[in-house]
Amino acid sequence: MKEFTDLREAARWADRMRAAGLSLGLVPTMGALHAGHLALIRRARSECDRVAVSLFVNPAQFGPQEDLSMYPRTPAEDRAGCRDSGADCLFWGQPEGSGSVYPPGFQTWVEVDRLSKPLCGEFRPGHFRGVATVVSILLGAFKPHRAFFGQKDFQQARLIQRLALDLAKGAEVVIVPTVRDADGLALSSRNRYLSTEERQWALAIPRALAEAERRWEAGEDRPSELEKGVRAALAAEPRLVIQYARALDAENLQPAAVDRIAALPSGVVLAVAALAGKTRLIDNTWLK
Ligand code: PAF
Repeated sequence: MKEFTDLREAARWADRMRAAGLSLGLVPTMGALHAGHLALIRRARSECDRVAVSLFVNPAQFGPQEDLSMYPRTPAEDRAGCRDSGADCLFWGQPEGSGSVYPPGFQTWVEVDRLSKPLCGEFRPGHFRGVATVVSILLGAFKPHRAFFGQKDFQQARLIQRLALDLAKGAEVVIVPTVRDADGLALSSRNRYLSTEERQWALAIPRALAEAERRWEAGEDRPSELEKGVRAALAAEPRLVIQYARALDAENLQPAAVDRIAALPSGVVLAVAALAGKTRLIDNTWLK
């Protein structure tokens, strides 16, 4: 496994792979890898000849009140996880200096307009601008044939699909199903902040989504009804602070034009964000 800290050197490695006629997969991450990330790497491994993983805690996507300095960093475990999951290249992004992700004097930002407004966009101003910008830089440097993102961050994944299309990145953006712990909680690097009690509160989220899936499978096709059900189920755990619980058209993240999932080509995403203590959790289910 090759390792780089200089983005231009990593880009040259990627150039060599493509020049040799090999297909290239990219898995952008912020490190602190868990089984969800490793599933992205394994999926990339199964679909591409060579796999690059980037690890970069991107300052541009954290708000002033957010947990940038506290964000978990586990480089030794990350290296082992990447190697064991079949990565060929590890890029350790640097925030400044020569070869850094943002070169000195950086002043070019990417905004995905409508898709970044609802859901997390309302609660994390500037977050998606930071995500879109860094992913745009990484796609430009590695020029992968495919890039892999987790469904847990559904809005992020949709927005990246849009930017890849709009900015002619030429990469197919693949959305990989969420990996859950045995108790149903979606894996997230932030789960480690949860106390035992908070984790119990947080389980109301996967329970509410699983109940919506059961109702949908049993024939309830109205997004409005499923959204109501999710809200009611979440209300049963008053210690969770709900930021949003929405059923939206999975294509554009707008309220569905017709109240029937079967009539929507991309189906509906039921998306939840909540605070368990100080930890912000997001999760969703995609009904299609
Ligand atoms: O999902 C993440 O870990 C980050 O938002 C990403 C896509 C790596 C961009 O920094």
